Amino acid sequence: MRGPHAQKTGTSTEHEKVTVHDNRTTIGVVRPSKETIDVSEDNSFKEKLYSFDKVLTEESTQQDVYDVTGADLVGRVFQGVNGCVLCYGHTSSGKTYTLLGPEQAARGKADPAVSEGLVPRTLVHMFAVKERLEQADPSRTVDIHMLVYEVYMEKVYDLFSASTGKSLDIRGPDKRGSFYPHGITNHYVVRAEAAMTVLRAAARSRREQRTKRNQRSSRSHMIIQMDVIQTKTVQWEASKQPLVRQDRAASLFMVDLAGSETEDDAALSDLTRAEGRKIRLSLYTLKRVVAALSDRKGRKHVPYR
Ligand SMILES: Nc1ncnc2c1ncn2[C@@H]1O[C@H](COP(=O)(O)OP(=O)(O)OP(=O)(O)O)[C@@H](O)[C@H]1O
Ligand SMILES: [Mg+2]
Repeated sequence: MRGPHAQKTGTSTEHEKVTVHDNRTTIGVVRPSKETIDVSEDNSFKEKLYSFDKVLTEESTQQDVYDVTGADLVGRVFQGVNGCVLCYGHTSSGKTYTLLGPEQAARGKADPAVSEGLVPRTLVHMFAVKERLEQADPSRTVDIHMLVYEVYMEKVYDLFSASTGKSLDIRGPDKRGSFYPHGITNHYVVRAEAAMTVLRAAARSRREQRTKRNQRSSRSHMIIQMDVIQTKTVQWEASKQPLVRQDRAASLFMVDLAGSETEDDAALSDLTRAEGRKIRLSLYTLKRVVAALSDRKGRKHVPYR
């Protein structure tokens, strides 16, 4: 959790103390509530330890976030492996900021080198790799396509044509075994800056709402999908005809989830309350899917729907 409101929203309250240990892979939580009283020999409250691959704190920079997440994912997508980043957390904890950087109004004042989010950093890296690969081997081309959509009240909407107000059906699996929103706009992007311009325009159509915790709280889950398709043109010896062969294709999904919040946080209108319930239900389903996928006992059923 990196947002400036982290103290208010639950990483550390007067009842709960969260410490990031020096190795930056472990956090310790001391929770002296009545239900979990757990006292060690010297009568202090026992610290519960949780281990992660990497822990970032509210002092971590946008570059730190990129270094431990995006940098590795870009390399893998070019090897043909799909990747996914999920920004999950309490409302106003900084998910949208982490992915996209400052809001439009604050962009002019911020230094992009410091404030740019994970998505623009990823795009710059992706296009640098594309250029390097194409220069090293002229028979290779790398096409990058961008799709941006949101899941709002359990329906999928294309953020590149939000004005239609039409939801999209999910179809699949396609040739690559993937599921996709049918009829979605697929932008072929040629430069990182151009990709960010279209992305920011799409993100402005996303459903947001002013809530108690956040002036611009995201009320939908936004998915930024980048398809990287590498093709290599090879000459077929016998015919001397150029033969196009698809080499590799993989997708990177960057997901900005709507914030989890209490009914009280959301209680502004009936719609906000209904949105809050759908958000909590979908985050709960996501939690069950992640738990099933990471279950080392090999539970078979993954509750995707
Ligand atoms: N690391 C940061 N540095 C500076 N400002 C930040 C940082 N993280 C978040 N903010 C600011 O805090 C506010 C809340 O952040 P943000 O909208 O990203 O939260 P969120 O987790 O997306 O919330 P929600 O779930 O309600 O959409 C915004 O005004 C954002 O600009
Ligand atoms: Mg948000």
